[in-house]
Amino acid sequence: MPAGLVRNLVTGGAGFLGSHLVDRLMQSGEEVLCLDNYFTGRKANIAHWIGHPRFELIRHDVTEPIKLEVDRIWHLACPASPIHYQTNPVKTAKTSFLGTYNMLGLARRVGARLLLASTSEVYGDPEIHPQPESYRGCVNTIGPRACYDEGKRIAETLCFDYRRMHGSEIRIARIFNTYGPRMLADDGRVVSNFIVQALRGEPLTLYGDGSQSRSFCYVDDLIEGLIRLMNADHTGPINLGNPSEFTIRQLAEQVRARINPELALISEPLPADDPRQRKPAIALAQRDLAWTPTVALEQGLEPTISWFRELLA
Ligand SMILES: NC(=O)c1ccc[n+]([C@@H]2O[C@H](COP(=O)([O-])OP(=O)(O)OC[C@H]3O[C@@H](n4cnc5c(N)ncnc54)[C@H](O)[C@@H]3O)[C@@H](O)[C@H]2O)c1
Repeated sequence: MPAGLVRNLVTGGAGFLGSHLVDRLMQSGEEVLCLDNYFTGRKANIAHWIGHPRFELIRHDVTEPIKLEVDRIWHLACPASPIHYQTNPVKTAKTSFLGTYNMLGLARRVGARLLLASTSEVYGDPEIHPQPESYRGCVNTIGPRACYDEGKRIAETLCFDYRRMHGSEIRIARIFNTYGPRMLADDGRVVSNFIVQALRGEPLTLYGDGSQSRSFCYVDDLIEGLIRLMNADHTGPINLGNPSEFTIRQLAEQVRARINPELALISEPLPADDPRQRKPAIALAQRDLAWTPTVALEQGLEPTISWFRELLA
Protein backbone atom coordinates (compact mmCIF):
# COMPACT_ATOMS: atom_id res chain seq x y z
CA MET A 1 0.00 0.00 0.00
CA PRO A 2 1.54 3.41 -0.92
CA ALA A 3 2.68 5.41 2.15
CA GLY A 4 0.86 8.61 3.10
CA LEU A 5 -2.62 7.52 2.05
CA VAL A 6 -5.44 8.33 4.48
CA ARG A 7 -6.67 5.03 5.89
CA ASN A 8 -10.39 5.08 6.65
CA LEU A 9 -12.42 2.60 8.64
CA VAL A 10 -16.13 2.71 7.75
CA THR A 11 -18.22 0.71 10.22
CA GLY A 12 -21.58 -0.23 8.74
CA GLY A 13 -19.87 0.26 5.37
CA ALA A 14 -22.07 -2.28 3.56
CA GLY A 15 -25.25 -0.42 4.57
CA PHE A 16 -27.17 2.29 2.79
CA LEU A 17 -25.23 5.39 3.90
CA GLY A 18 -21.99 3.50 4.59
CA SER A 19 -21.70 2.16 1.04
CA HIS A 20 -22.21 5.62 -0.50
CA LEU A 21 -19.53 6.96 1.84
CA VAL A 22 -17.21 4.12 0.81
CA ASP A 23 -17.79 5.12 -2.85
CA ARG A 24 -16.87 8.75 -2.16
CA LEU A 25 -13.72 7.87 -0.20
CA MET A 26 -12.59 5.35 -2.82
CA GLN A 27 -13.25 7.87 -5.60
CA SER A 28 -11.07 10.39 -3.71
CA GLY A 29 -8.16 7.93 -3.88
CA GLU A 30 -8.16 7.07 -0.17
CA GLU A 31 -7.80 3.68 1.47
CA VAL A 32 -10.94 2.09 2.91
CA LEU A 33 -11.50 -0.70 5.41
CA CYS A 34 -15.19 -1.53 5.27
CA LEU A 35 -16.43 -3.30 8.39
CA ASP A 36 -19.90 -4.82 8.70
CA ASN A 37 -21.77 -7.75 10.24
CA TYR A 38 -24.36 -7.68 7.39
CA PHE A 39 -27.32 -7.35 9.72
CA THR A 40 -28.96 -4.80 7.41
CA GLY A 41 -26.06 -4.27 5.00
CA ARG A 42 -25.44 -6.14 1.75
CA LYS A 43 -22.20 -7.20 0.16
CA ALA A 44 -23.78 -6.21 -3.17
CA ASN A 45 -23.59 -2.54 -2.07
CA ILE A 46 -19.79 -2.57 -2.07
CA ALA A 47 -19.16 -5.55 -4.41
CA HIS A 48 -17.78 -3.19 -7.09
CA TRP A 49 -14.76 -2.42 -4.86
CA ILE A 50 -13.88 -5.99 -3.88
CA GLY A 51 -10.42 -6.78 -5.24
CA HIS A 52 -9.38 -3.10 -5.45
CA PRO A 53 -5.92 -2.61 -3.87
CA ARG A 54 -7.13 0.30 -1.68
CA PHE A 55 -10.21 -1.57 -0.42
CA GLU A 56 -10.59 -4.23 2.27
CA LEU A 57 -13.74 -5.90 3.57
CA ILE A 58 -13.96 -7.10 7.17
CA ARG A 59 -16.84 -9.15 8.57
CA HIS A 60 -17.01 -8.10 12.20
CA ASP A 61 -19.52 -7.11 14.87
CA VAL A 62 -18.70 -3.77 16.52
CA THR A 63 -19.91 -5.04 19.89
CA GLU A 64 -16.59 -6.97 19.93
CA PRO A 65 -13.26 -5.09 20.14
CA ILE A 66 -10.97 -5.08 17.10
CA LYS A 67 -7.40 -3.93 16.49
CA LEU A 68 -6.69 -2.07 13.26
CA GLU A 69 -4.33 0.69 12.12
CA VAL A 70 -6.42 3.56 10.79
CA ASP A 71 -6.41 7.37 10.61
CA ARG A 72 -10.14 8.01 10.49
CA ILE A 73 -13.12 6.10 11.81
CA TRP A 74 -16.55 6.74 10.32
CA HIS A 75 -18.76 4.99 12.84
CA LEU A 76 -22.05 4.21 11.14
CA ALA A 77 -22.70 0.62 12.29
CA CYS A 78 -26.20 0.43 13.75
CA PRO A 79 -29.53 -0.58 12.22
CA ALA A 80 -31.39 2.63 11.38
CA SER A 81 -34.95 1.67 10.52
CA PRO A 82 -37.48 0.98 13.31
CA ILE A 83 -38.38 -2.46 11.91
CA HIS A 84 -34.77 -3.57 12.11
CA TYR A 85 -33.68 -1.87 15.31
CA GLN A 86 -36.75 -3.18 17.15
CA THR A 87 -36.12 -6.78 16.00
CA ASN A 88 -33.65 -7.20 18.86
CA PRO A 89 -33.73 -4.00 20.92
CA VAL A 90 -31.16 -5.24 23.42
CA LYS A 91 -28.72 -5.89 20.58
CA THR A 92 -29.45 -2.39 19.21
CA ALA A 93 -28.60 -0.83 22.58
CA LYS A 94 -25.44 -2.96 22.77
CA THR A 95 -24.45 -1.94 19.25
CA SER A 96 -24.80 1.74 20.14
CA PHE A 97 -23.06 1.57 23.49
CA LEU A 98 -20.47 -1.20 23.11
CA GLY A 99 -19.93 -0.47 19.43
CA THR A 100 -19.15 3.19 20.08
CA TYR A 101 -17.10 2.29 23.16
CA ASN A 102 -15.00 -0.17 21.12
CA MET A 103 -14.50 2.30 18.28
CA LEU A 104 -13.52 5.10 20.68
CA GLY A 105 -11.06 2.71 22.30
CA LEU A 106 -9.58 1.89 18.91
CA ALA A 107 -9.46 5.59 17.95
CA ARG A 108 -7.66 6.42 21.18
CA ARG A 109 -5.12 3.61 20.76
CA VAL A 110 -4.12 4.62 17.23
CA GLY A 111 -4.79 8.39 17.48
CA ALA A 112 -7.57 8.32 14.88
CA ARG A 113 -10.34 10.89 14.48
CA LEU A 114 -13.82 9.39 14.95
CA LEU A 115 -17.07 10.59 13.41
CA LEU A 116 -20.26 9.23 15.00
CA ALA A 117 -23.39 8.90 12.86
CA SER A 118 -25.89 10.10 15.42
CA THR A 119 -29.48 10.94 14.63
CA SER A 120 -32.33 13.41 14.86
CA GLU A 121 -33.98 10.74 17.04
CA VAL A 122 -31.96 12.16 19.96
CA TYR A 123 -34.56 14.97 19.89
CA GLY A 124 -37.39 12.41 20.37
CA ASP A 125 -40.86 13.88 19.84
CA PRO A 126 -39.67 17.50 19.83
CA GLU A 127 -41.43 20.34 21.64
CA ILE A 128 -39.69 22.97 19.53
CA HIS A 129 -39.59 23.26 15.79
CA PRO A 130 -37.29 23.22 13.89
CA GLN A 131 -34.75 21.52 16.16
CA PRO A 132 -31.41 23.29 16.74
CA GLU A 133 -28.43 21.40 18.17
CA SER A 134 -28.91 23.16 21.53
CA TYR A 135 -32.33 21.49 22.02
CA ARG A 136 -31.97 18.64 24.53
CA GLY A 137 -34.83 16.50 23.29
CA CYS A 138 -37.95 14.79 24.53
CA VAL A 139 -37.31 11.06 24.47
CA ASN A 140 -39.42 8.37 26.10
CA THR A 141 -36.80 6.29 27.93
CA ILE A 142 -38.99 3.19 28.15
CA GLY A 143 -40.78 3.09 24.77
CA PRO A 144 -40.10 0.76 21.84
CA ARG A 145 -37.90 3.35 20.09
CA ALA A 146 -35.74 3.98 23.16
CA CYS A 147 -33.18 1.26 22.32
CA TYR A 148 -32.20 3.36 19.31
CA ASP A 149 -32.84 6.91 20.58
CA GLU A 150 -31.23 6.40 23.98
CA GLY A 151 -28.53 4.26 22.37
CA LYS A 152 -27.47 7.19 20.20
CA ARG A 153 -27.72 9.60 23.13
CA ILE A 154 -25.32 7.53 25.24
CA ALA A 155 -23.07 7.12 22.18
CA GLU A 156 -22.82 10.92 21.95
CA THR A 157 -22.12 11.08 25.70
CA LEU A 158 -19.31 8.53 25.36
CA CYS A 159 -17.72 10.55 22.55
CA PHE A 160 -17.70 13.71 24.66
CA ASP A 161 -16.37 11.87 27.73
CA TYR A 162 -13.53 10.41 25.65
CA ARG A 163 -12.81 13.91 24.42
CA ARG A 164 -12.78 15.37 27.95
CA MET A 165 -10.83 12.47 29.50
CA HIS A 166 -8.41 11.58 26.71
CA GLY A 167 -8.48 14.49 24.27
CA SER A 168 -9.96 12.21 21.58
CA GLU A 169 -10.77 13.89 18.28
CA ILE A 170 -14.46 13.36 17.72
CA ARG A 171 -17.11 14.56 15.29
CA ILE A 172 -20.84 14.09 15.84
CA ALA A 173 -23.33 14.31 12.99
CA ARG A 174 -27.03 14.34 13.86
CA ILE A 175 -28.48 12.89 10.69
CA PHE A 176 -32.10 13.58 9.72
CA ASN A 177 -34.16 11.31 7.40
CA THR A 178 -32.05 10.46 4.40
CA TYR A 179 -33.15 8.50 1.34
CA GLY A 180 -31.77 7.28 -1.97
CA PRO A 181 -30.63 4.22 -3.91
CA ARG A 182 -29.53 1.16 -1.87
CA MET A 183 -32.21 1.48 0.77
CA LEU A 184 -33.74 -1.91 1.51
CA ALA A 185 -37.19 -2.69 0.14
CA ASP A 186 -38.35 -4.03 3.52
CA ASP A 187 -36.78 -1.44 5.79
CA GLY A 188 -40.07 0.23 6.71
CA ARG A 189 -38.88 3.83 6.33
CA VAL A 190 -41.47 6.05 4.76
CA VAL A 191 -39.81 6.89 1.43
CA SER A 192 -38.98 3.27 0.63
CA ASN A 193 -42.39 2.10 1.92
CA PHE A 194 -44.33 4.37 -0.42
CA ILE A 195 -42.15 3.65 -3.44
CA VAL A 196 -42.26 -0.12 -2.94
CA GLN A 197 -46.04 -0.12 -2.38
CA ALA A 198 -46.59 2.02 -5.48
CA LEU A 199 -44.34 -0.14 -7.66
CA ARG A 200 -46.22 -3.23 -6.48
CA GLY A 201 -49.53 -1.55 -7.37
CA GLU A 202 -50.66 -1.57 -3.72
CA PRO A 203 -52.41 1.28 -1.86
CA LEU A 204 -50.01 3.60 0.01
CA THR A 205 -50.29 3.30 3.80
CA LEU A 206 -50.42 6.53 5.80
CA TYR A 207 -49.97 6.16 9.54
CA GLY A 208 -52.40 8.49 11.30
CA ASP A 209 -53.92 11.09 8.99
CA GLY A 210 -50.60 11.77 7.26
CA SER A 211 -50.34 15.30 8.64
CA GLN A 212 -47.13 14.56 10.56
CA SER A 213 -44.16 16.21 8.87
CA ARG A 214 -40.69 15.09 7.91
CA SER A 215 -37.79 16.52 5.94
CA PHE A 216 -35.97 14.31 3.45
CA CYS A 217 -32.31 14.62 2.56
CA TYR A 218 -30.93 13.00 -0.58
CA VAL A 219 -28.02 10.66 0.14
CA ASP A 220 -25.43 12.57 -1.97
CA ASP A 221 -26.06 15.75 0.02
CA LEU A 222 -25.73 13.88 3.30
CA ILE A 223 -22.43 12.22 2.36
CA GLU A 224 -21.02 15.62 1.36
CA GLY A 225 -22.02 16.91 4.81
CA LEU A 226 -20.32 13.99 6.58
CA ILE A 227 -17.10 14.54 4.64
CA ARG A 228 -17.09 18.28 5.37
CA LEU A 229 -17.68 17.61 9.06
CA MET A 230 -14.87 15.06 9.29
CA ASN A 231 -12.48 17.56 7.66
CA ALA A 232 -13.69 20.59 9.64
CA ASP A 233 -12.47 22.00 12.90
CA HIS A 234 -15.89 21.40 14.47
CA THR A 235 -16.59 18.70 17.03
CA GLY A 236 -20.37 18.91 16.71
CA PRO A 237 -23.01 17.82 17.39
CA ILE A 238 -24.17 19.28 14.11
CA ASN A 239 -27.46 18.70 12.30
CA LEU A 240 -27.29 17.34 8.76
CA GLY A 241 -30.58 17.17 6.91
CA ASN A 242 -32.72 18.92 4.36
CA PRO A 243 -34.88 21.63 5.97
CA SER A 244 -37.62 21.49 3.30
CA GLU A 245 -40.59 20.13 5.18
CA PHE A 246 -43.33 17.88 3.79
CA THR A 247 -46.28 16.15 5.37
CA ILE A 248 -46.31 12.40 4.96
CA ARG A 249 -49.45 12.81 2.83
CA GLN A 250 -47.61 15.20 0.48
CA LEU A 251 -44.80 12.69 0.11
CA ALA A 252 -47.30 9.91 -0.66
CA GLU A 253 -48.92 12.12 -3.28
CA GLN A 254 -45.57 12.91 -4.92
CA VAL A 255 -44.64 9.23 -5.10
CA ARG A 256 -48.06 8.22 -6.38
CA ALA A 257 -48.01 10.92 -9.07
CA ARG A 258 -44.70 9.57 -10.39
CA ILE A 259 -45.55 5.87 -10.34
CA ASN A 260 -49.32 5.41 -10.59
CA PRO A 261 -51.77 8.26 -9.89
CA GLU A 262 -54.66 5.77 -9.64
CA LEU A 263 -53.44 4.21 -6.37
CA ALA A 264 -55.44 4.70 -3.17
CA LEU A 265 -54.07 6.16 0.08
CA ILE A 266 -55.19 4.20 3.16
CA SER A 267 -54.87 5.05 6.86
CA GLU A 268 -53.54 2.96 9.76
CA PRO A 269 -53.01 3.91 13.44
CA LEU A 270 -49.85 5.84 14.33
CA PRO A 271 -47.09 3.68 15.89
CA ALA A 272 -46.07 4.43 19.51
CA ASP A 273 -43.87 7.51 20.03
CA ASP A 274 -43.92 8.45 16.34
CA PRO A 275 -42.67 12.07 16.24
CA ARG A 276 -45.30 14.55 14.96
CA GLN A 277 -42.81 16.78 13.22
CA ARG A 278 -39.18 16.77 12.32
CA LYS A 279 -37.16 19.45 10.59
CA PRO A 280 -33.49 20.29 11.05
CA ALA A 281 -32.21 23.74 11.84
CA ILE A 282 -29.03 23.75 9.74
CA ALA A 283 -27.63 27.23 10.37
CA LEU A 284 -24.60 25.72 12.12
CA ALA A 285 -23.76 23.41 9.20
CA GLN A 286 -24.29 26.28 6.77
CA ARG A 287 -21.98 28.56 8.74
CA ASP A 288 -19.24 26.17 9.89
CA LEU A 289 -19.23 23.59 7.09
CA ALA A 290 -20.46 25.84 4.27
CA TRP A 291 -22.88 22.98 3.64
CA THR A 292 -26.40 23.17 2.40
CA PRO A 293 -28.45 20.45 0.69
CA THR A 294 -28.82 20.96 -3.05
CA VAL A 295 -31.09 18.09 -4.17
CA ALA A 296 -34.83 18.80 -4.00
CA LEU A 297 -37.26 15.98 -3.20
CA GLU A 298 -38.58 15.91 -6.79
CA GLN A 299 -35.02 15.40 -8.08
CA GLY A 300 -34.00 12.81 -5.49
CA LEU A 301 -37.11 10.69 -5.92
CA GLU A 302 -36.23 9.89 -9.56
CA PRO A 303 -33.00 7.88 -8.96
CA THR A 304 -34.54 6.35 -5.84
CA ILE A 305 -37.58 5.09 -7.76
CA SER A 306 -35.29 3.76 -10.52
CA TRP A 307 -33.27 1.88 -7.90
CA PHE A 308 -36.37 0.20 -6.45
CA ARG A 309 -37.73 -0.54 -9.92
CA GLU A 310 -34.57 -2.50 -10.69
CA LEU A 311 -34.45 -4.13 -7.27
CA LEU A 312 -38.02 -5.37 -7.46
CA ALA A 313 -37.63 -6.53 -11.05
N1 LIG B 1 -30.55 6.84 6.85
C1 LIG B 1 -31.00 7.71 7.72
O1 LIG B 1 -31.99 8.41 7.43
C2 LIG B 1 -30.32 7.92 9.05
C3 LIG B 1 -30.82 8.92 9.89
C4 LIG B 1 -30.20 9.13 11.11
C5 LIG B 1 -29.09 8.40 11.47
N2 LIG B 1 -28.63 7.43 10.64
C6 LIG B 1 -27.47 6.65 11.11
O2 LIG B 1 -26.57 6.41 10.05
C7 LIG B 1 -26.00 5.11 10.17
C8 LIG B 1 -26.23 4.33 8.90
O3 LIG B 1 -27.62 4.24 8.63
P1 LIG B 1 -28.20 3.56 7.31
O4 LIG B 1 -29.44 4.28 6.95
O5 LIG B 1 -27.11 3.41 6.31
O6 LIG B 1 -28.65 2.15 7.89
P2 LIG B 1 -28.29 0.67 7.41
O7 LIG B 1 -29.09 -0.25 8.26
O8 LIG B 1 -28.42 0.56 5.93
O9 LIG B 1 -26.75 0.57 7.76
C9 LIG B 1 -26.25 0.15 9.00
C10 LIG B 1 -25.11 -0.81 8.73
O10 LIG B 1 -24.54 -1.20 9.99
C11 LIG B 1 -24.37 -2.61 9.99
N3 LIG B 1 -24.43 -3.06 11.39
C12 LIG B 1 -25.50 -3.04 12.21
N4 LIG B 1 -25.16 -3.52 13.43
C13 LIG B 1 -23.84 -3.83 13.35
C14 LIG B 1 -22.90 -4.38 14.28
N5 LIG B 1 -23.27 -4.71 15.53
N6 LIG B 1 -21.63 -4.59 13.87
C15 LIG B 1 -21.25 -4.27 12.59
N7 LIG B 1 -22.10 -3.77 11.67
C16 LIG B 1 -23.37 -3.54 12.04
C17 LIG B 1 -25.51 -3.14 9.15
O11 LIG B 1 -25.31 -4.45 8.65
C18 LIG B 1 -25.57 -2.09 8.03
O12 LIG B 1 -24.68 -2.38 6.99
C19 LIG B 1 -26.65 4.47 11.40
O13 LIG B 1 -25.79 4.61 12.50
C20 LIG B 1 -27.90 5.28 11.61
O14 LIG B 1 -28.28 5.31 12.96
C21 LIG B 1 -29.23 7.17 9.44
